[in-house]
Amino acid sequence: MLFGTQTVNSKGHLEIGGCDTIELAERFGTPLYVMDEALIRQNCRDYISAFKSQYPNTTVTFAGKAFLTTAMCRILQQEGMSLDVASGGELHTAMMADFPVKNIYFHGNFKSDEELRMALETGVGRIVVDNIHELERLNAMALQMGKKADIMFRLTPGVDPHTHRMISTGQEDTKFGINIKNGDALNAVKRALECPGVTLRGIHCHVGSQLLDLESHIGAIPIMVGFAKQVFDETGTVIEEINTGGGLGIRYIDGQVPPTIETFAQTLVASFLSAVESFGLPNKPKLIQEPGRSIVGPAGITLYSVGTVKRVSIVEEPGYRTYVIVDGGLSDNPRPLMYEAVYDALVANKAGEKATETVTISGKHCETDTLITDAMIAPVQTGDTIAIQCTGAYNYAMASNYNRLRRSAVALVKDGSADVIVRRQTLEDLTACDVLPDRLA
Ligand SMILES: Cc1ncc(COP(=O)(O)O)c(C=O)c1O
Repeated sequence: MLFGTQTVNSKGHLEIGGCDTIELAERFGTPLYVMDEALIRQNCRDYISAFKSQYPNTTVTFAGKAFLTTAMCRILQQEGMSLDVASGGELHTAMMADFPVKNIYFHGNFKSDEELRMALETGVGRIVVDNIHELERLNAMALQMGKKADIMFRLTPGVDPHTHRMISTGQEDTKFGINIKNGDALNAVKRALECPGVTLRGIHCHVGSQLLDLESHIGAIPIMVGFAKQVFDETGTVIEEINTGGGLGIRYIDGQVPPTIETFAQTLVASFLSAVESFGLPNKPKLIQEPGRSIVGPAGITLYSVGTVKRVSIVEEPGYRTYVIVDGGLSDNPRPLMYEAVYDALVANKAGEKATETVTISGKHCETDTLITDAMIAPVQTGDTIAIQCTGAYNYAMASNYNRLRRSAVALVKDGSADVIVRRQTLEDLTACDVLPDRLA
């Protein structure tokens, strides 16, 4: 399946953003992440218009953990998106891009003192407090600095999403947030109301990621709204904002059929408004959405050069397995090894040819870093270029220097132009932070 602006051009090559992927690979080298700017922008627009047309008092914030660079921050700003950051590094990236600081939500289940200080100094819009200990630290620090922080609480609604356990976060047994059902969340609210260094603005939850149905979102909404009502009844405090996180899944392979952004918005808003009404909330809180994957996932591909094609036959077993070894792997995409993530691929220089071969696409690391098992692709040989689809989310963001591979470049393509928005690391970059102590000199 082709996404966004992808087509097959007259040379039979995969094209994205009006650029021939084989020319991109030659010009910028491989592995190469390529991001389709038009599709990113379209997804931002779809989110904003789908939610605002249902409920104008909605803010859509992009979950920066999915893919964050200074260029991405500029696109988000131009599209009227807010931004969720989950570390001082992500906040720094946003500041380097002059992203409007009031539209930043600072997340994370362990914010260091340095990160809390950065959040207070820069004046981020909201600090999403994960636990009571963090509340006390933040309050003390804000008072010391003569500041008052606008906060939300990250809550655990106790909804178990049906997704990989590594990306499940809404269930009660989790390291994230404060439990609603056992009363901890209400106690945290009461404590926040006594803290002069913070103003409680809202509540937040995020049930999980890559969700292909809306069951868990819909399950979490009445719990969140019901909690807002409980807060009002017990303390008289009006919860102004309810953030229901991100989580909408995308189609990585055939058979995965996520709801559209339109359906997602309609279903969520309907469930939200109905809960607001049935619990008799004194206000209509702002609704905040925090998508990551569904904005950037389908907009990215990774281009790899094929090194070796190995046919491995196993004695006493019929047939053979064909391994297609590419010049990246675990270091540019750890998701298959981390949580058995699945992907589709094609041979970018043979994009017009029929997919007739079943192969296993593997990386070059000292692990069995299989990127795709049993990919159906066109006949492939050394020197071909493989494109793996839907690598825009949590790929560049999770990349490492394992085996001291240099991190790959990211090219942003649109209307036939390609710009490097992250340059490929050099060999010098790899040792730039190494220190040789005198005693080893
Ligand atoms: C707090 C929070 N918000 C939003 C997201 C984005 O989720 P997704 O990329 O599935 O939309 C995440 C992902 O882990 C998250 O932890």
